[in-house]
Amino acid sequence: MANTVFTLFSLVLICITATQGRKTLHLNHELLTSNPVFGDDVHGICKTMVETLGYTCEEHKVTTKDGYILSLQRMPTGRSGQKADKPPVLLQHGIFSDASTWLVNSPDESLGFILADNGYDVWFANVRGTKYSNGHTSLNPNDQGYWDWSWDELAGYDLPAFVQYVYNYTGQKMHYAGHSLGTLMALAAFSQGQVLNMLRSAALLCPIAHMNQITSLLTKFAADTFIANDLYWLRIHEFNPNGPMTLVTGPNCCLNSSITDVSSEPTATKNLIHLSQMIRTGKIAKYDYGDEGENMQHYGQPDPPLYDMTTIPKEFPLFLTYGGQDMLSDVKDVQHLLNDLQDHNANKLVVLFKEDYAHLDFVRAVNANQMIYDPIMSFYRVN
Ligand SMILES: *[C@@H]1O[C@H](CO)[C@@H](O)[C@H](O)[C@H]1NC(C)=O
Ligand SMILES: *[C@@H]1O[C@H](CO)[C@@H](O)[C@H](O)[C@H]1NC(C)=O
Repeated sequence: MANTVFTLFSLVLICITATQGRKTLHLNHELLTSNPVFGDDVHGICKTMVETLGYTCEEHKVTTKDGYILSLQRMPTGRSGQKADKPPVLLQHGIFSDASTWLVNSPDESLGFILADNGYDVWFANVRGTKYSNGHTSLNPNDQGYWDWSWDELAGYDLPAFVQYVYNYTGQKMHYAGHSLGTLMALAAFSQGQVLNMLRSAALLCPIAHMNQITSLLTKFAADTFIANDLYWLRIHEFNPNGPMTLVTGPNCCLNSSITDVSSEPTATKNLIHLSQMIRTGKIAKYDYGDEGENMQHYGQPDPPLYDMTTIPKEFPLFLTYGGQDMLSDVKDVQHLLNDLQDHNANKLVVLFKEDYAHLDFVRAVNANQMIYDPIMSFYRVN
């Protein structure tokens, strides 16, 4: 009974958020038309979250091969004002968020500031569809075509654009840190042999690859009933999350309860369908068009091609950290990924398990500096 009530509640919730998604679309439209200066840096991450705390920050833009104009922020110095003496680090946020993920806590508690204060040249990525990366060479977010993507494109276009841009700009190979979907983007790209030649190492927080064991009721429910697909046919192409996120993320142990105004960013409904396909089939594959003919057109084969995690080069330095309370990056799924990586060079793979952490603790817990970020910096120093 409780389950039924919960399920109904979830359904209503998803319908409400879907409706909100529509509203956001209009809102975006108004914002875009009333404010023709694209990418309005005055209200951007640098001006609102970094410079206000006395740090230097630069706004950058890169255009992907499929035309999306994406923003990056850079912190070239720490609070001392001294120029970075360590390599660049590229930080890639997860689903429903943006670069602010790495900056919401105090400078002593947020990975972005901590890296800058420790001498790293810090770069923050914002994927397509988020409010600071909503440009395109020919489409705008009101166009259905703008939202015609899933994480295949985030891994295949956005990530390579960010990495190539930072590499071009700094002339240096970089470290990477990704959270949640930012880990899937990296793992998928790595398994295709992409971007590795420009990276020194990668830290993966709450790795998402296999998704069969997911325990998040809301997510599993949406996947099982294929709600995302319904949204798609209702022509709601942009999905805006707003709701009790702990139902999805797990019970985060250590968030600062006085910080509540963290923005949620929309994503493409197609991206959610793709994730729900992973949950239902247990496979890490490209987006399934659900029709052999259409898959043939896109991939030259009737089934979507698989991403094979066992092909990730064994000598590439990887740091994986995951939590016992995380309902999205489930312990069993992470162990499945670790099994794929069983032949990885033992001294090139660091694994850090944190029993009491859930999905958001890894980016927002008040003790993540000691628990997670110090070990990541130790890992960077030797790679
Ligand atoms: C990087 O530099 C190469 C060579 O100059 C150029 O072709 C490419 O467009 C640049 N890419 C990015 C993302 O800046
Ligand atoms: C929580 O956030 C508030 C407001 O930013 C801050 O003053 C406080 O020190 C934080 N608490 C902890 C435990 O970090």
